[in-house]
Amino acid sequence: MEVSVAGEPFTQTASTGYDRAQELKAFDDTEAGVKGLVDAGIVNIPRIFIRPSDELVEELNCQQNSFQVPLIDLDEIKGSNREEIVYQIRTASETWGFFQVVNHGIPLKVLEDMIQGVRDFNEQDVEMKKQWYSRDQMKRVRFNSNFDLYQSRTANWRDTLNLSCSVSHNFDPEELPAACRETTLEYIKHVRSLGDTLFEIISEALGLKSEHLQDMECGGASTFVCHYYPPCPEPELTMGTSSHSDPAFLTILLQDQIGGLQVLHQNQWVDVNPISGGLVVNIGDFLQVISNEKLKSVDHRVIASGVGPRVSVACFFAGSDDVPPRLYGPIKELISEENPPLYQNFLVPEYFAKYAAEGLNSKSCLEQLKL
Ligand code: OGA
Ligand code: NI
Repeated sequence: MEVSVAGEPFTQTASTGYDRAQELKAFDDTEAGVKGLVDAGIVNIPRIFIRPSDELVEELNCQQNSFQVPLIDLDEIKGSNREEIVYQIRTASETWGFFQVVNHGIPLKVLEDMIQGVRDFNEQDVEMKKQWYSRDQMKRVRFNSNFDLYQSRTANWRDTLNLSCSVSHNFDPEELPAACRETTLEYIKHVRSLGDTLFEIISEALGLKSEHLQDMECGGASTFVCHYYPPCPEPELTMGTSSHSDPAFLTILLQDQIGGLQVLHQNQWVDVNPISGGLVVNIGDFLQVISNEKLKSVDHRVIASGVGPRVSVACFFAGSDDVPPRLYGPIKELISEENPPLYQNFLVPEYFAKYAAEGLNSKSCLEQLKL
């Protein structure tokens, strides 16, 4: 079967003439991403994107289910509803690691403009876009396709603009691509403020004082990962984003109305259906560690689709960006003799380096921190 050897990294198969490493490089060298392939009118997806047959077979066994990701209304969060909201966020974070929020205070126009800005960036003249193409992790603004292109088993059907900033090192407007400059600056301001609110609520949910997680600078650095998923001519053979958990404390995700995001719940893939004006929030690996596993960082993925493009923007709150880096580990108020620490302390830059070296597809970074 044609797909049986696909996905094995760096294999050179004389009989089929498939040199994966060479094909990855050729794709990377176009600097036009997956959108470049679609614009060229391909009807069959290149082999580097085809999932191995064992994964494709597993997919056929996926069951339909009627689970619903928790939906939490943040209206009156500073007032009469606070206690109830803390309870709902605690329950959702312990059982799902995922929830959606509405009435979060970010105007619909800011969300829609952010999505449109990302679309405009990706759909501008390819030569303009190429100026941003890079795999240099030191660049605060970089565009590429598949950050783990050379590490992963299979490439994903998406392109990504990465914007990294922090409370102490904000963007100069000129650092950002003109196509999405104003919209991004506006969005960042609002998402940071929502992040502060959520860190307060989560602190309370953990039985800590409201400022605890902010005092730990959990929301210090933030990376805005802006994804563009072009329509795929053979969606059943590939993925938009492979299954993974997020290397961050918390993620706030904005998605357009196309759909495709799924979260793993009780061993079933559950659709995170788009809600107009809603945002998806999920617990990341670092909150799982510092909460000593009270809160769960759960695997999720994006399936590929013939419909699109799909746009999403994930804001990862990734902790302090102090130099030397701050050490994070299970919060001492949450550990006791009956509740011994389950993880060792870690440094965020080291965790990122490991994650980048391994690529998506695994929870191994988190596993390696286990005591
Ligand atoms: C991510 C992610 C989901 C999406 O960037 O980590 O899970 O909907 N994105 O694009
Ligand atoms: Ni994710």
